[in-house]
Amino acid sequence: MTQTIAKYPDPILREKANPVERITTEILDLAEGMIRMMIESDGVGLAANQVGSRERIFVINTTPHEDKPTPIVMINPVIIDQEGSTSEAEGCLSFPELYITIERADRVNLHAKNTFNETIVYETTGLLARAVQHEIDHLNGVLIIDHVTTDEDKENMEQWQKNMQQKAET
Ligand code: CO
Repeated sequence: MTQTIAKYPDPILREKANPVERITTEILDLAEGMIRMMIESDGVGLAANQVGSRERIFVINTTPHEDKPTPIVMINPVIIDQEGSTSEAEGCLSFPELYITIERADRVNLHAKNTFNETIVYETTGLLARAVQHEIDHLNGVLIIDHVTTDEDKENMEQWQKNMQQKAET
């Protein structure tokens, strides 16, 4: 696990994560470290590839600005069904200050393992449903820029990439 969150175009962000076979101490340490980094960055979610790991894990915290965070760890998440659609501007810790309007399902049912190796079924809506879809995208190497549909977002994305390149050169 890295000490900083990978920023685009770090190639790890394009890698597909592998299913976790056993919940070992390493996996528990990884989940704990991811929760810490997510909370320190005021993020709503963080996927393992964003911290240099190829394990199929993400963490979510839909109340990043509250004193008592209630983070959720999802291991080997699988969407069971989804319905509806809703569009909202979405950010990502790997793309600081870039926001892309993304159409996603409104309600998502999924199952995932928790850190006690129990399979839990989640019925999600709203911000949690959006976050789940965003993080599952990460585990498949899919990023917010792959969801650009409007000219305005395309321009913002291109400008963001230019700024990043300039930063890298100086
Ligand atoms: Co993200």
